[in-house]
This record gives sequence, C-alpha cells and structure tokens, in this order.
Amino acid sequence: MAEPRKEPREAWGSRLGVILAVAGSAVGLGNFLRFPVQAAKNGGGAFMIPYFISFLLLGLPLMWIEWTIGRFGGGFERSTAPGIFETVWQKNRFIKYFGVIGIFGPTIIFVYYTYIESWLLGYSVFALTGRYASCTDQPSMAAFLKGYQGLVQNEHFSGIGPAYFFFLVTFAVNILVIWVGLRAGIERVCKYGLLVLFILAIAIVIRVATLGTPDPGRPEWNVNNGFGFLWNPRWAELKEAKVWLAAAGQIFFTLSVGFGVILTYASYLRRRDDVALSGLTASTANEFAEVILGGSIVIPAAFAIFGPQVTQEIAEGGAFNLGFVTMPLVLQKVAFGQFFAFAWFFLLFIAGVTSSISLALPAVVFLQDEFNLDRKTASILFAIVTFNLCQVVIFFNGQGALDEMDFWGGTFCVVLFAMIEVVLFAWVFGMDKAWSELHSGSDIRIPRIYRFIIKYITPLFLVLILGFWFVQEGWPTLLLEKTPAENVPYVIGTRVLLIDLFAALAFLVWLAWRKRHNGEAAR
Ligand code: TRP
Repeated sequence: MAEPRKEPREAWGSRLGVILAVAGSAVGLGNFLRFPVQAAKNGGGAFMIPYFISFLLLGLPLMWIEWTIGRFGGGFERSTAPGIFETVWQKNRFIKYFGVIGIFGPTIIFVYYTYIESWLLGYSVFALTGRYASCTDQPSMAAFLKGYQGLVQNEHFSGIGPAYFFFLVTFAVNILVIWVGLRAGIERVCKYGLLVLFILAIAIVIRVATLGTPDPGRPEWNVNNGFGFLWNPRWAELKEAKVWLAAAGQIFFTLSVGFGVILTYASYLRRRDDVALSGLTASTANEFAEVILGGSIVIPAAFAIFGPQVTQEIAEGGAFNLGFVTMPLVLQKVAFGQFFAFAWFFLLFIAGVTSSISLALPAVVFLQDEFNLDRKTASILFAIVTFNLCQVVIFFNGQGALDEMDFWGGTFCVVLFAMIEVVLFAWVFGMDKAWSELHSGSDIRIPRIYRFIIKYITPLFLVLILGFWFVQEGWPTLLLEKTPAENVPYVIGTRVLLIDLFAALAFLVWLAWRKRHNGEAAR
C-alpha cells in the first residue's frame, strides 16, 4: 500500500516571527492579572526576590532547554514531546509515554483557556455598548459576571446564550488560525497582535499613572500610594515556603515553560538558527510585559479608586475578580473610560489568542507528524474533540470542572514535565553535548555558570518544589479534601474524563509507533 504523500514540513518566515510567536504564547492573562495578584498576596515588593531567583534558576534554563531540544527534534521531523524525547533518548522505550504530558497538558489548558478568552471578547463588546453601565458597585458588577457565566439568572442575563455566542466566535478564531498554518496563521497573528497589545497596554499604563488623586476627599488614595501598596517590600513574608512556591509557579505560568508548547514552536527552526539569544529575547519581552506593564495597571488603579482595604480584599479575591469586576468599575470613573475599558478587555483578548493558539498546536501537529494527516484534517479532528470537552467547562464551571483542569494541566503536569526535560538535557544528552547544541548557530555565549545551574541547581529546585507542592496542595487535592461536598461527583467526573484523554493519547502514541515500526520493517 502506498504511503500517503506527506505535506512539506512548515517553517517560520523570519527570526523575529518565531521570537514573537513564543513571546505571544508567554504574554497572556498571567502577565496582567495573575502576576499582580501573586505579588500583592506574597510579600509585595519582596516577592520580586524569589520571583527573579526563579526566573534565573528555573525560567531561563527551561526556556533554553525547550528551544534547544525542540530544534534538535525538529531536525528529525519530530515536533511534539513524544517524538522529540525519543530523538534525545533513543534507547529508552518508555520515554515517549512521558512525552504524552506535553500534548495532554496544553490540550487541557486550551479547553478552559479559550472559554475564559471568550469572556474577554464579550466584555470588549459590552464595554463599547455600555451593557454593564448600570452596575456601579462591586456586588452588582460581580452579579453581572455570574449572570454572564450562566451561574445565576438575574436582571442582567436570563441564560448562558451570550456567553455561548462569544465562545463560538473565539473557538472558531482559534481553529481558523491553526488551520491557516504556522506562517500565514500563527506568525502573522502574533506579529500584529503583540504590536496592538503593547500599544494598548502602554496607553492604559499612562492612563493609570495620570489618575492622580481621584477623590479629593481622600488624598491618601492616590496612584503613588497604589504603586507603594504593590511594591513596598514585606520582607518577613520571605520566610514562608508558600511565597517561594507562588513565585516559582508564576514563572512557569508566565513564560509558558514546562508545557510542551515551546518545544513545538522551536521544532520548526532550522539547524543553524540561533536559540540562545532568541530564547532570552522572548523571555525578556515577557518580563517587560509582566513586571513593568502588568505591575502598573490593576493594583495601582484599584488602590487609587477604592483605597487600601478594598484593594487588599480584591487581591485576595483573585485574578478574575480584579479583571472582570474591579477594572470595569475603575474605568467607569475616569475620563474616556469607555474607550479604556474596551482597550483593557481587547488587549487581554489578544493576549489570550496568541497564547491559546500555541496551546492547540502540539495536539494538531502530533496528528500531522505521527499519522501523516494534513494540517486541515488534523485541525478539524482537534476541533471536534476539544469542542466537546469545552462543553464540560462551560456547563459545569460552577461545579469546579475548570479548577480541576487547571490543577492538573496547569500545575502538576508542568513541574513533572520540566523535570523530565532537564534530566533529558543535562543528564541524557550530557552537559557537554547539551552545551554545544545550545550554542550551535548562537549569537551569544551564555555564562558558563549556567552549565552548573542547569545540571544541578535547576533539577534540585524542581524536586523541592514538587515535594513542597505535593504535601501542601497535591495530596489534599487528590483526596478531594478542599472540594465542597456537592461538587465531588462533578470533580470526579472531570478527573475520569482527564484520565480517559490521557489514556487515549497514550494509545495513539503506541499506535503511531507500531505503524512507524512496521513501516520501517517492510522497507
Ligand atoms: N503564559 C500564559 C500567560 O501568562 C499562560 C500559559 C500558561 C500558557 N501555560 C501556557 C500559554 C502554555 C500558552 C501555552 O497567561
């Protein structure tokens, strides 16, 4: 039987293009919502110490590792973790199954991330049309959000219809970009998307920085004190393990390392392309967007309008509250607020799209690479499966389905996967080969201290994180200790679904390898 003809392998159009694609994946809701909340909750300015240590000892090394082994695997026409891991450790028959995590994790995150992304599109429209203008305090704005999500019926929403509509649009946009392909789709969207994103973010930062003292009756509620609220260090909190865990977790999340998506992006590089400087540049762009832009918007603005007490409560209430409840209220109170509210939500929507397309890619190219499907067929199959999974998130969001997916896809898998990557790079490749691989075609030389860091410090740091995390959160969550009793059946249901998905992917890997093996034997 003749093998179906393979589509020619795709490639990036330019060096800037791939850097922007990786930066687009990294810059997301995490930069503008998750980061300020984590910093405010964990030591204020003092948070920056564990944060930068984690950046230097975990984030940057993993960024380089993913770019390097991704490009290496790409040389063998393998673009996802199962195949890439095998090119690094050819003698190991099981390593491909560990690679399944690098498809499973992103797919799960894609499923709930696109839903959240769609709220942003909805709110962009609402900002322009004044749909939530009648909500002028926290409770009513929170009720608006709950109504939108279909969690309650109220005067704002009688059902989930509008949310569902925006979800369909967002989902379709994502699939379309993937369908169009690497260069014409992803690369182009990231190029223009990041440009617009930075312009909007800078405009909002300037708006916030010039808020001054909005309420003359309360002169201490001003923007300067708002910056102080976020950045004044509370050194004593550095003694707590949870602050260090939060910092490391934020670094993983914000840089998108440890998921498998950067592996896939890097696999489309050519052998001679630089990875050392490109990885560093993408990371730097993300840190700028996070620390400088993300740190200058929500918290200082909330402080100037609502004062310290309420801002503290809001930060404790989490990222969504800050984004969907507090920010629209803040922006109602400033000149040209309607425009800035639109800018805020639309900026986050773009940040979301450039992230979610990177999440979709591993599963799609896995089907292409390992089953010889063309890009369009693979995109459609992916769309069918994830569309169904999204229904679980949309309709059981109130019962904890989203959180459960986030817990496994966004935390546990990440640290484990990162661990495997470091071991493959530093110990299986061996540091000599790894170092020369990393520097092949490179435009910079990385300080030699990183040989030591990557070999010993990064793995040790990861083991510590995994250990602490497992004791503090992993085990209690596994046993459903924190789950409200009425949600237990739904959470277990979600878990079963996740296990099924993992098993299905592992089966596909088995099948693909058997086919490949038979194909080779027949030749
Ligand atoms: N980095 C993204 C953010 O800051 C979120 C994210 C986490 C992500 N893991 C990812 C995006 C993997 C793409 C791929 O919001």
